[in-house]
Amino acid sequence: MTIFNLGSINVDHVYRLPALAQPGETIAARTLSRGLGGKGANQSIAAARAGAAVRHVGAIGAADGWVADTLRAAGVDVRGVQRLADEATGHAIIMVDDGGENAIVIHGGANHALPQSAVTAGLSGIGPGDTLLLQNETAHQRIAAAQAQAAGARVIYSAAPFDLAAVRDVIPHPTIIAVNEGEAARLQAGIEGPLPVAGLLVTMGGKGAEYRDLTAGRVTRQDAFPVTPVDTTGAGDCFAGWFAAGMDEGLAIEANLRRAAAAAALQVTRPGAADAMPTLAEVDAILTRGR
Ligand code: RIB
Repeated sequence: MTIFNLGSINVDHVYRLPALAQPGETIAARTLSRGLGGKGANQSIAAARAGAAVRHVGAIGAADGWVADTLRAAGVDVRGVQRLADEATGHAIIMVDDGGENAIVIHGGANHALPQSAVTAGLSGIGPGDTLLLQNETAHQRIAAAQAQAAGARVIYSAAPFDLAAVRDVIPHPTIIAVNEGEAARLQAGIEGPLPVAGLLVTMGGKGAEYRDLTAGRVTRQDAFPVTPVDTTGAGDCFAGWFAAGMDEGLAIEANLRRAAAAAALQVTRPGAADAMPTLAEVDAILTRGR
């Protein structure tokens, strides 16, 4: 089936530093590089590399055709990506330290200017068996999630960057919410009563990940594959994209978590966000070696 992704698209400006800048501090970057990012674009490329059919719904500035070309080259259908004449593509300023940790500032740009009609049109044809992926870096998440739910599709909401008001808005509609450990705690603290979703995917960096099946009351855990990270930017997106692809493919939850963990482990050993997403052959090779 198809994974529709109402997803942000950013140009990432990545500054490599010995340590992340602290308040009041000025640090000279060792290097500056530019690449495709945005939680949405990262997840689309991750899911496409996992073998899923992916349709991205989003927006970029008219001058950044290379961004759509990069998505297309990764196998993502970009007919739902609008080129907005009066908007700049969203961008991110990313500091990455010697341990691969990051701190990120985003500017939404075209991600927030996507017209509602483009979202509705981009999701036309979504139906049972399909998946909608969405994050918190675009406009119209609630409308998209409601449309997909009403059409009988699976809705996977990667609730990042975490924003309680956005989560409250979307929460009647997702099937699964994907968050990191800190976001999971904020989610549980911010939403009263049991979460009204079938499952919660919690990624925990070097500690692995778990899927909480809230219907069956069962938790499935997966250790992280041991690697030395060079850049953790987009690792959660990699996991979410591969996990969505696994759900689309009908993988059992254990196999899906293991494959997504292998993909995320590979992704953090490379610099960049979307550019660092591994291929299915690379992930299969790790899984075959049994690491
Ligand atoms: O999750 C990583 C992403 O967050 C980066 O690619 C950046 O663009 C921001 O959206």
